[in-house]
Amino acid sequence: MSPSIFDHRAAEWDNNPGRVAIAQNIAAAMLKALPCERTWRALDCGAGTGLLTLNLLPHLAEICATDSSAGMLEQLRKKIAAAGIRNVTTQLWDADAEACPQASFDLVCSSMVLHHLRDTPAALQRIVAALRPGGWLALADLETEDGSFHPDPAGVHHHGFAPENIACWLSAAGCTDIALSTAYTIVKPDATGTQHRYPVFLATARRAH
Ligand SMILES: C[S@@+](CC[C@H](N)C(=O)[O-])C[C@H]1O[C@@H](n2cnc3c(N)ncnc32)[C@H](O)[C@@H]1O
Repeated sequence: MSPSIFDHRAAEWDNNPGRVAIAQNIAAAMLKALPCERTWRALDCGAGTGLLTLNLLPHLAEICATDSSAGMLEQLRKKIAAAGIRNVTTQLWDADAEACPQASFDLVCSSMVLHHLRDTPAALQRIVAALRPGGWLALADLETEDGSFHPDPAGVHHHGFAPENIACWLSAAGCTDIALSTAYTIVKPDATGTQHRYPVFLATARRAH
């Protein structure tokens, strides 16, 4: 797999306190919306350096952290080795290109990844297929924005989403119990220095039995 833009950003990824806060708030919203059990095996799609993974981990049995960027996963491996964490594994997976190499998860979660995927409905089919029947899905990403969120648009394929479209695609992918809420609102300056509000939706659903 060729190096991605995220490989180049991986070493400094966690130095941005805004990213850390986004993941903390999204994790809190997911934990509020999901009936998590400490027996659950979860998969984090586009886990990056594990900011969401490590916030959810105390509430679950184990998490498989997947990403298409080897560099991002390498940073996560350093963190889990330093902390002596044994119930997080890492797995390269390009959700835009191939079926998930593992399946039957109780939970599949994802934070701020969907807008980096080219064909969102097709990727959602692959993501849902990684769940066991009845398993839970929790996806958080930007609501439709004006393109100002990313100062560097490399690797950005969507300026957020209308949450209703995500719900339609999840239904087409075989999900039930689809619920939409606002997980968090990111406030940060755009390129002109004007403070801008970027709502982040949370979509939860279950794979049909
Ligand atoms: C904005 S970061 C979010 C990382 C992490 N979820 C978090 O909340 O901190 C987006 C992540 O999606 C990953 N990604 C981009 N395209 C992907 C793809 N096609 N398949 C899997 N992961 C992808 C990137 O490598 C990166 O780690």
